[in-house]
Order: sequence, then structure tokens, then C-alpha cells
Amino acid sequence: MEVIIQPTQEAATAVAAQFVAQLLREKPRAVLGLPTGNTPLPLYRELVRMKLDWHRVTTFNLDEYVGLSPQHPASYHSFMHENLFRHINITRKNIHIPDGMTGNIPGFCEKYEQQIRDAGGIDLQLLGIGVDGHSGFNEPSSSLASRMRMKTLTARTRRDNAKGFGGMAQSPHHVITMGIGTIMEARHCLLLAFGRKKAKAIAGMVEGPVTAMNPASALQLHPKVTVYLDEPAASRLKMKPYYRWIFENKPSL
Ligand code: GLP
Repeated sequence: MEVIIQPTQEAATAVAAQFVAQLLREKPRAVLGLPTGNTPLPLYRELVRMKLDWHRVTTFNLDEYVGLSPQHPASYHSFMHENLFRHINITRKNIHIPDGMTGNIPGFCEKYEQQIRDAGGIDLQLLGIGVDGHSGFNEPSSSLASRMRMKTLTARTRRDNAKGFGGMAQSPHHVITMGIGTIMEARHCLLLAFGRKKAKAIAGMVEGPVTAMNPASALQLHPKVTVYLDEPAASRLKMKPYYRWIFENKPSL
């Protein structure tokens, strides 16, 4: 796992954006896995600003709320359209976001995973992390071998999401999410985390035991993971000086 610590969120986002841009230039048909949340917002803004060619890029979003129409302002369909897709030249049919309105969740999930395989697999899976170590919507106690499926959110995650729904009472309980096993099949995972409130989850993910109680810790078993942090998110890492030295003294091979 490569841990890249930058002084600020802006600096970490800029380095991550350069990495994504390079992939799109080298592989115009790249397949990206995409997250939602506040964390990737500046990255999406930066990618838009870079005016990259998305024409042949394919995307698969991680998750969506069950029972929410794509038009709902808090849906991840709306989020992705507003913050990325409407600003870039991506081909509509290459965009994939789980359908929260499907009448057959297991069938839909099976098909979505097949679509990922048909596209050649995910080249780069972008990820955020919840304060409890969840990634996608794989809450603590999720199987580390899980596939795409319906999940029930914890009260904490529902509270974190409540703002978009006008309060806790309306905050959805159920979601469709790629599983940890699905995420682990991406060729490269790039996880972003900013702010002190993510420090505990990051320490657990990078340096703690691999445990279903911090589902993102499964990434320790993935051969290619890059983690971009600001100082506050890195504040509880024991091996911080080591990670910093590695990044600053990378030999050009
Ligand atoms: C939600 C999303 C995750 C995201 C997490 C953290 O649960 N499903 O993909 O990583 O929130 O969100 P934020 O980046 O706003 O802290």
C-alpha cells in the first residue's frame, strides 16, 4: 500500500488528479470505478478543469440508495451528473450507476458485475472511506469477500447522510453497493481521505488488522493500492515518517 501524505486536501487532490489524468491519456478506453461523498468533489472539479477526453472512458459507480429515483436530488445519479458527468464529454451509454428502483436487486447486481467483467474489469477504482472504515456502503461487519448486493446502513451512516434527505426519519436504510470482493478485483485502488475525523478509520485501514470491523482494511490484501491523505487524516499513522520518506525519495526506475 502506497501512502501519500500532503499538507492539505488541495495538494493531495492535485496529485491524485494528475494520476487519473495520466491514466486517461495513456488508456483512452480506461474503466473507472467512482465514489460519491464530499471527499471526491474537489477531485471531480479538478478533472473537469483539466478538460480531459472522456469519450471512450467507461465508469461504474459504487453504490446507490434503494427506492430513490435517479431524479431525486440526493440520489447518487444526481450527484454524479451534477458534479462530473454533465461537465465532461463522456458517452452516456458508458456510464453505469446502480439502479435503486430495480424490482429485482439480486438480478440487477449479478448483471452489473457481469457488465464490469464485459468492460474488461475496472482499471482504477477511486474510493472514499467512512468514519467507521466503510467503503462504498460496505458497513462494518460486511464480509470481506462480499459481492454486489443490498446492504442495510448503520444508524451512524444514516445520520451522516440525513442532511440530503431533510432529516434522519427520511434517511434511507437500504442501499445497493459493490461488495468488498468486487472492489478488490479492480487492478488499482486509489483511496482519498481528508480531515481529522477520518484519522481513526485510516489508521485502522493502513496499520490495523485486516478486519470486517474496518472493511477498507481488506485493501491490505490488494497488490496495488494508493492512499492520498492530508495531514489531519494521516495524524494517527504510526509509520508516517516512513511513508513520507518513500514518497519524497522515489527512485525513477
Ligand atoms: C458514503 C459513500 C462512500 C463514501 C462515504 C464517505 O457512505 N457511500 O462511498 O466514501 O460516504 O463520505 P465523505 O467523503 O462525504 O466523507
